[in-house]
Amino acid sequence: MQTTIQLQNKALSGKSTLYLCTKKDKLASLGFDKNEEAYIQKKLKADEHYILINRLSSLIFIQFTDDFTKKTSAEKLEAYRVLGQKMCVALNTHRYKEVVLNTDKNNNEQILAVAEGCALANYEFLKYKSDTKKKHTLENILVHTEKENTQKIEELQIVIDAVYTARTWVNEPQSYLTAVSFSKEIKALAGSSNVKAEVLAKKQIEALKMGGLLAVNLGSKTPPTFTILEYKPKNAKNKQPLVLVGKGVVYDTGGLSLKPTPNSMDTMKCDMAGGAAVAAAICAIAKANLPYYVVALIPATDNRPGENAYTPGDVVTMFDGQTVEVLNTDAEGRMLLADALAYAKKYKPELVLDFATLTGAAAAAIGSYGTVCMGTASEKTKNQLKDCGNHVHERLVEFPFWDDYAKLIKSDLADMKNIGGPVGGAITAGKFLEKYVDYPWMHFDIAGPAYLTTADSYRGKQGTGVGVRLLFNFVKSLCN
Ligand code: BES
Ligand code: ZN
Ligand code: ZN
Repeated sequence: MQTTIQLQNKALSGKSTLYLCTKKDKLASLGFDKNEEAYIQKKLKADEHYILINRLSSLIFIQFTDDFTKKTSAEKLEAYRVLGQKMCVALNTHRYKEVVLNTDKNNNEQILAVAEGCALANYEFLKYKSDTKKKHTLENILVHTEKENTQKIEELQIVIDAVYTARTWVNEPQSYLTAVSFSKEIKALAGSSNVKAEVLAKKQIEALKMGGLLAVNLGSKTPPTFTILEYKPKNAKNKQPLVLVGKGVVYDTGGLSLKPTPNSMDTMKCDMAGGAAVAAAICAIAKANLPYYVVALIPATDNRPGENAYTPGDVVTMFDGQTVEVLNTDAEGRMLLADALAYAKKYKPELVLDFATLTGAAAAAIGSYGTVCMGTASEKTKNQLKDCGNHVHERLVEFPFWDDYAKLIKSDLADMKNIGGPVGGAITAGKFLEKYVDYPWMHFDIAGPAYLTTADSYRGKQGTGVGVRLLFNFVKSLCN
């Protein structure tokens, strides 16, 4: 399923259409008849700025943008995306296939945000439904604008497709998406995106002594994978790559430290959302030909309490030789991320960004409204990331990263233990990861926003694809 966004260079009549207006605009010039004008005026008097006119063969959307003026530029863009979501619902309810978004020279960025919100809201995952009669009808979003915006529209399409892909991977249950099938899906996407892909199988992972990934996989019946993606364009602006790392736990039962069901295990197919985000993002970056050298690493396995499962009390020797006392097998994400982060050193990266559904503590702290981040990157990089986060409304909250928290993961037996105390759970997880990095690095804990059990605007329900738009936008900003 796809929603296409196309440039439309001739005016079209008779189709569902959005008009962005201000109160000063002469409505007659937009083609409204007397009755419609009277209706619009009535609505305006009632202080309604979003107006829907049902012409029976089309829907006309009018948004008066006057009440957006007090917002910051990022908040404005988000208001336009939410408008796109409202339109998407109406178009599908009334069974329309197409919509035209009208722009003038001054509101191109806004209208693309409407298209973005509308397309993101139009996503649905129906693979396992027998009855799809009620499926969305909307297929095409036509942006009526000048030819010079072609590239922007093509780029938006690439990003929307990438978010759809990441969402679908997250929504796939573990019965379909094992570590092996996940890596195959990633490899296929990379193949069609001009991204080099290599999937390390269990033997190679053993040869490399990736102890963290192998320990988590011990309780599983299916083998782990370690997927390496590389996009190195000839015109890259950077010599040392940007390395993305994504947690690929295709299902997290907690292992022997079993999660209680039904509350916390039901959604644990989402535990590879970080891996999905980085894989979809690097492929989008390549499809858009962004001149930036990027690598992505996705360690993947399920976490189960099988008969050979790693146990609380075990000591694991990690890829880089450090030892970990395992005190909770449910703190598995950091075990495999640590191996991937240590592996990333071989690229001498200019920056590493990891995305992981790592801790319930991050989700408890800020909910699904944003992503918790922390790390050792420069203030400049952090600010650039936060600006991008605001711009795409994948907002970032930086947590303190004081060394005091590192004391909480000291072990009597080994170099560190895999859990901290009762406080600062998201941060102690970050401090654990920090032991495996020697380069500028940021950690993004997406446990809150990766998967929603109640619908939220164009993010929808279930997998949100969080991280994809942030990463694409960030790399784009690095190219400018
Ligand atoms: N995958 C979970 C974290 C998670 C929680 C993701 C909620 C998405 C939604 C992670 O592996 C985990 O279980 N973390 C533990 C760590 C603890 C044992 C130190 C947690 O947060 O409870
Ligand atoms: Zn866990
Ligand atoms: Zn997990």
